[in-house]
Amino acid sequence: MSQLENISTPPVITIDGPAGSGKGTIAKQVAQQLGWHILDSGALYRLTALAALQSNIAIDDIATLSHIAENLDVVFKPDSIYLEGKEVTLAIRQEACGNIASKIAAIAEVRAALLQRQRNFQQAPGLIADGRDMGTVVFPNASTKIYLTATVEERAKRRLNQLKQNKISASLPHLIKEIQTRDARDMNRQSAPLKAADDALIIDSSDMSIEQVVKSVLQVCQ
Ligand code: C5P
Repeated sequence: MSQLENISTPPVITIDGPAGSGKGTIAKQVAQQLGWHILDSGALYRLTALAALQSNIAIDDIATLSHIAENLDVVFKPDSIYLEGKEVTLAIRQEACGNIASKIAAIAEVRAALLQRQRNFQQAPGLIADGRDMGTVVFPNASTKIYLTATVEERAKRRLNQLKQNKISASLPHLIKEIQTRDARDMNRQSAPLKAADDALIIDSSDMSIEQVVKSVLQVCQ
Protein backbone atom coordinates (compact mmCIF):
# COMPACT_ATOMS: atom_id res chain seq x y z
CA MET A 1 0.00 0.00 0.00
CA SER A 2 1.40 3.46 -0.90
CA GLN A 3 1.75 6.09 1.83
CA LEU A 4 -0.94 8.23 0.16
CA GLU A 5 -3.40 5.32 0.13
CA ASN A 6 -2.58 4.63 3.74
CA ILE A 7 -3.35 8.20 4.78
CA SER A 8 -6.64 8.39 2.90
CA THR A 9 -8.04 5.02 4.02
CA PRO A 10 -10.00 5.27 7.29
CA PRO A 11 -8.91 2.65 9.86
CA VAL A 12 -11.01 -0.44 10.58
CA ILE A 13 -11.23 -2.58 13.71
CA THR A 14 -12.83 -5.95 13.03
CA ILE A 15 -14.63 -7.96 15.72
CA ASP A 16 -15.52 -11.47 14.58
CA GLY A 17 -16.81 -14.39 16.60
CA PRO A 18 -19.56 -16.96 17.09
CA ALA A 19 -23.24 -16.31 17.87
CA GLY A 20 -23.87 -14.57 21.18
CA SER A 21 -20.23 -13.80 21.93
CA GLY A 22 -21.14 -10.18 22.65
CA LYS A 23 -19.64 -8.72 19.47
CA GLY A 24 -22.56 -6.35 18.93
CA THR A 25 -22.46 -4.88 22.43
CA ILE A 26 -18.68 -4.52 22.42
CA ALA A 27 -18.61 -3.06 18.90
CA LYS A 28 -21.22 -0.47 19.88
CA GLN A 29 -19.35 0.64 23.01
CA VAL A 30 -15.95 0.78 21.31
CA ALA A 31 -17.48 2.78 18.43
CA GLN A 32 -19.08 5.19 20.91
CA GLN A 33 -15.83 5.72 22.80
CA LEU A 34 -13.82 6.32 19.63
CA GLY A 35 -16.58 8.26 17.84
CA TRP A 36 -16.32 5.86 14.87
CA HIS A 37 -18.90 4.32 12.54
CA ILE A 38 -20.25 0.83 13.09
CA LEU A 39 -21.11 -2.03 10.73
CA ASP A 40 -23.40 -4.77 12.06
CA SER A 41 -22.85 -7.16 9.15
CA GLY A 42 -25.04 -9.87 10.71
CA ALA A 43 -27.98 -7.47 10.38
CA LEU A 44 -27.50 -7.47 6.59
CA TYR A 45 -27.83 -11.27 6.50
CA ARG A 46 -30.80 -11.09 8.86
CA LEU A 47 -32.44 -8.40 6.69
CA THR A 48 -31.94 -10.53 3.60
CA ALA A 49 -33.53 -13.45 5.47
CA LEU A 50 -36.49 -11.34 6.59
CA ALA A 51 -37.06 -9.92 3.10
CA ALA A 52 -36.92 -13.46 1.66
CA LEU A 53 -39.35 -14.75 4.31
CA GLN A 54 -41.79 -11.92 3.62
CA SER A 55 -41.75 -12.70 -0.10
CA ASN A 56 -41.88 -16.50 0.38
CA ILE A 57 -38.59 -17.07 -1.42
CA ALA A 58 -37.24 -20.62 -1.18
CA ILE A 59 -33.86 -21.12 0.49
CA ASP A 60 -32.47 -22.71 -2.71
CA ASP A 61 -33.57 -19.88 -5.02
CA ILE A 62 -30.05 -18.46 -5.20
CA ALA A 63 -30.69 -15.94 -8.00
CA THR A 64 -33.63 -14.29 -6.22
CA LEU A 65 -31.88 -14.33 -2.82
CA SER A 66 -28.79 -12.67 -4.31
CA HIS A 67 -30.99 -10.09 -6.04
CA ILE A 68 -32.70 -9.32 -2.71
CA ALA A 69 -29.32 -9.02 -0.93
CA GLU A 70 -27.91 -6.69 -3.55
CA ASN A 71 -30.97 -4.43 -3.59
CA LEU A 72 -31.87 -4.27 0.11
CA ASP A 73 -33.55 -0.94 0.87
CA VAL A 74 -32.11 -0.44 4.37
CA VAL A 75 -31.69 2.50 6.70
CA PHE A 76 -29.52 2.06 9.81
CA LYS A 77 -30.30 4.56 12.59
CA PRO A 78 -28.39 4.59 15.92
CA ASP A 79 -30.91 2.31 17.68
CA SER A 80 -33.20 1.08 14.92
CA ILE A 81 -33.17 -0.52 11.48
CA TYR A 82 -35.64 0.06 8.66
CA LEU A 83 -36.34 -2.26 5.73
CA GLU A 84 -38.28 -0.64 2.89
CA GLY A 85 -39.34 2.15 5.26
CA LYS A 86 -40.68 -0.22 7.93
CA GLU A 87 -39.02 -0.65 11.32
CA VAL A 88 -37.67 -4.20 11.70
CA THR A 89 -35.28 -3.74 14.66
CA LEU A 90 -36.92 -6.49 16.75
CA ALA A 91 -38.21 -8.64 13.89
CA ILE A 92 -34.71 -9.42 12.64
CA ARG A 93 -33.53 -10.43 16.15
CA GLN A 94 -35.90 -13.42 16.35
CA GLU A 95 -33.99 -16.73 16.50
CA ALA A 96 -35.94 -17.99 13.45
CA CYS A 97 -34.62 -15.06 11.45
CA GLY A 98 -31.07 -15.72 12.69
CA ASN A 99 -31.30 -19.34 11.62
CA ILE A 100 -32.49 -18.53 8.12
CA ALA A 101 -29.83 -15.81 7.95
CA SER A 102 -27.20 -18.42 8.75
CA LYS A 103 -28.51 -20.72 5.98
CA ILE A 104 -28.60 -17.88 3.46
CA ALA A 105 -25.13 -16.75 4.58
CA ALA A 106 -23.67 -20.05 3.39
CA ILE A 107 -24.52 -19.11 -0.23
CA ALA A 108 -21.44 -17.60 -1.91
CA GLU A 109 -23.54 -15.51 -4.32
CA VAL A 110 -25.43 -13.87 -1.44
CA ARG A 111 -22.14 -13.07 0.30
CA ALA A 112 -20.76 -11.56 -2.90
CA ALA A 113 -23.92 -9.45 -3.28
CA LEU A 114 -23.37 -7.94 0.18
CA LEU A 115 -19.60 -7.42 -0.06
CA GLN A 116 -19.41 -3.91 -1.54
CA ARG A 117 -22.25 -2.65 0.65
CA GLN A 118 -20.21 -3.68 3.71
CA ARG A 119 -17.00 -2.09 2.39
CA ASN A 120 -18.87 1.19 1.82
CA PHE A 121 -19.13 1.55 5.62
CA GLN A 122 -15.37 2.25 5.79
CA GLN A 123 -15.57 5.98 6.31
CA ALA A 124 -13.65 8.58 8.31
CA PRO A 125 -12.81 8.80 11.12
CA GLY A 126 -12.93 4.97 11.31
CA LEU A 127 -15.07 1.84 11.40
CA ILE A 128 -15.80 -0.94 13.90
CA ALA A 129 -17.01 -3.92 11.85
CA ASP A 130 -18.74 -6.81 13.62
CA GLY A 131 -19.44 -10.19 12.03
CA ARG A 132 -17.97 -13.57 11.07
CA ASP A 133 -15.63 -12.74 8.17
CA MET A 134 -14.77 -9.09 8.79
CA GLY A 135 -11.06 -9.74 9.42
CA THR A 136 -10.69 -12.65 6.99
CA VAL A 137 -12.62 -11.51 3.89
CA VAL A 138 -14.32 -8.12 4.03
CA PHE A 139 -11.51 -6.05 5.60
CA PRO A 140 -8.36 -8.19 5.34
CA ASN A 141 -6.20 -5.04 5.79
CA ALA A 142 -7.91 -3.95 9.01
CA SER A 143 -5.55 -2.25 11.46
CA THR A 144 -6.81 -4.30 14.44
CA LYS A 145 -8.55 -7.68 14.36
CA ILE A 146 -10.32 -9.21 17.34
CA TYR A 147 -11.85 -12.69 17.56
CA LEU A 148 -14.30 -12.64 20.45
CA THR A 149 -15.52 -15.91 21.89
CA ALA A 150 -17.02 -17.47 25.06
CA THR A 151 -18.33 -20.88 26.12
CA VAL A 152 -21.58 -21.94 24.46
CA GLU A 153 -23.39 -21.98 27.85
CA GLU A 154 -22.32 -18.42 28.61
CA ARG A 155 -23.28 -17.24 25.13
CA ALA A 156 -26.71 -18.86 25.40
CA LYS A 157 -27.28 -17.18 28.79
CA ARG A 158 -26.38 -13.80 27.34
CA ARG A 159 -28.64 -14.39 24.35
CA LEU A 160 -31.50 -15.33 26.68
CA ASN A 161 -31.10 -12.08 28.61
CA GLN A 162 -30.92 -10.09 25.40
CA LEU A 163 -34.10 -11.74 24.09
CA LYS A 164 -35.85 -11.16 27.45
CA GLN A 165 -34.98 -7.46 27.27
CA ASN A 166 -36.57 -7.38 23.84
CA LYS A 167 -39.60 -9.26 25.26
CA ILE A 168 -38.91 -12.34 23.10
CA SER A 169 -39.37 -15.66 24.94
CA ALA A 170 -36.91 -18.58 24.68
CA SER A 171 -35.52 -21.45 26.79
CA LEU A 172 -31.86 -21.95 27.70
CA PRO A 173 -31.49 -25.60 26.52
CA HIS A 174 -33.18 -24.70 23.25
CA LEU A 175 -30.88 -21.69 22.78
CA ILE A 176 -27.77 -23.81 23.48
CA LYS A 177 -28.83 -26.26 20.76
CA GLU A 178 -29.63 -23.49 18.29
CA ILE A 179 -26.31 -21.74 18.92
CA GLN A 180 -24.40 -25.01 18.48
CA THR A 181 -26.18 -25.71 15.20
CA ARG A 182 -25.57 -22.18 13.96
CA ASP A 183 -21.88 -22.22 15.00
CA ALA A 184 -21.36 -25.54 13.21
CA ARG A 185 -22.99 -24.22 10.04
CA ASP A 186 -21.04 -20.93 10.16
CA MET A 187 -17.70 -22.67 10.84
CA ASN A 188 -18.04 -25.47 8.32
CA ARG A 189 -19.39 -23.66 5.28
CA GLN A 190 -17.22 -23.41 2.15
CA SER A 191 -17.66 -19.68 1.65
CA ALA A 192 -16.04 -17.35 4.22
CA PRO A 193 -16.34 -19.74 7.19
CA LEU A 194 -16.24 -18.33 10.71
CA LYS A 195 -12.65 -18.44 11.94
CA ALA A 196 -10.11 -16.14 13.54
CA ALA A 197 -7.90 -14.29 11.06
CA ASP A 198 -4.25 -15.36 11.38
CA ASP A 199 -3.41 -11.90 12.73
CA ALA A 200 -6.42 -11.61 15.09
CA LEU A 201 -6.18 -11.30 18.85
CA ILE A 202 -8.42 -13.94 20.45
CA ILE A 203 -10.39 -12.78 23.50
CA ASP A 204 -12.35 -15.33 25.54
CA SER A 205 -14.95 -13.25 27.34
CA SER A 206 -16.55 -16.11 29.34
CA ASP A 207 -15.34 -14.66 32.64
CA MET A 208 -15.06 -11.03 31.63
CA SER A 209 -17.46 -8.13 32.08
CA ILE A 210 -18.47 -5.97 29.12
CA GLU A 211 -16.32 -3.13 30.53
CA GLN A 212 -13.26 -5.41 30.74
CA VAL A 213 -13.65 -6.55 27.13
CA VAL A 214 -14.14 -2.97 25.89
CA LYS A 215 -11.02 -1.92 27.80
CA SER A 216 -8.99 -4.78 26.28
CA VAL A 217 -10.12 -3.91 22.74
CA LEU A 218 -9.29 -0.22 23.24
CA GLN A 219 -5.88 -1.15 24.64
CA VAL A 220 -5.12 -3.30 21.60
CA CYS A 221 -6.11 -0.44 19.28
CA GLN A 222 -3.75 1.95 20.98
O1 C5P B 1 -24.30 -11.86 14.09
P1 C5P B 1 -25.69 -12.35 13.82
O2 C5P B 1 -26.15 -13.41 14.76
O3 C5P B 1 -26.66 -11.23 13.71
O4 C5P B 1 -25.60 -13.01 12.35
C1 C5P B 1 -26.64 -13.79 11.83
C2 C5P B 1 -26.04 -14.80 10.86
O5 C5P B 1 -25.51 -14.11 9.73
C3 C5P B 1 -24.87 -15.61 11.41
O6 C5P B 1 -25.26 -16.81 12.05
C4 C5P B 1 -24.04 -15.92 10.19
O7 C5P B 1 -24.46 -17.09 9.56
C5 C5P B 1 -24.34 -14.76 9.26
N1 C5P B 1 -23.23 -13.83 9.18
C6 C5P B 1 -22.20 -14.14 8.32
N2 C5P B 1 -21.19 -13.26 8.13
C7 C5P B 1 -21.16 -12.12 8.82
C8 C5P B 1 -22.17 -11.80 9.74
C9 C5P B 1 -23.20 -12.69 9.92
O8 C5P B 1 -22.19 -15.19 7.70
N3 C5P B 1 -20.15 -11.28 8.60
